[in-house]
Amino acid sequence: MAASDAMCRGLLVIIAVIMLTSKAAADPDLLQDICVADLASDVRLNGFACKANATAEDFFFAGLSRPGVVNNSVGSQVNAANVLRIPGLNTLGVSLSRVDYAPGGLNPPHTHPRATEIVFVLDGEIEVGFITTANVLISKTIKKGEVFVFPRGLVHFQKNNGKVPAAAIAAFNSQLPGTQSIAATLFAASPPVPDNVLTKAFQVGTKEIKKIKSRLAPKK
Ligand code: GLV
Ligand code: MN
Repeated sequence: MAASDAMCRGLLVIIAVIMLTSKAAADPDLLQDICVADLASDVRLNGFACKANATAEDFFFAGLSRPGVVNNSVGSQVNAANVLRIPGLNTLGVSLSRVDYAPGGLNPPHTHPRATEIVFVLDGEIEVGFITTANVLISKTIKKGEVFVFPRGLVHFQKNNGKVPAAAIAAFNSQLPGTQSIAATLFAASPPVPDNVLTKAFQVGTKEIKKIKSRLAPKK
């Protein structure tokens, strides 16, 4: 009897911990029906201040209806539908992106500090992968209609190895997931990360670091 009571109590504690931690893993819950972001407000808080009058336009965005123009060296274009473009998303804890990939295109390794991501392939076929904190690569090739999940905070990428363009919709459990692209974060930060930090981290010489920095420098 005592043992089963203890087991029950243990189970309750585990369930409570799971509920608390899973709640903390997404944006905070909302306290009102809507809070359309006033993106111009000077008020600084966790999220955005609410604007006074909401219209349907605050909850609408047509920007994902067409393929994005892919004209960069990596061969992919991300078009975000987050709170910065849909103010009505403020406090709702969700957002989307559309990613278009040229043949051979890569969405380079990056992380989202505030969201788990789930991708749905609209067209073509993409190789997807994420790396765990134990440095294990979990990857797979997925095709039109299939989905794949990138756990919150883990470095991930997508690559179109096909000969035709591909496209995917990505959904996030955050109004503003944030994106840190690994290469740009380390090699194109402003002010720059010191060369001697990068030479030691990557175990190469200053020449190699300067070469990568010059390739990733923002175009003027
Ligand atoms: C894809 O990984 C994206 O972040 O849009
Ligand atoms: Mn992503």
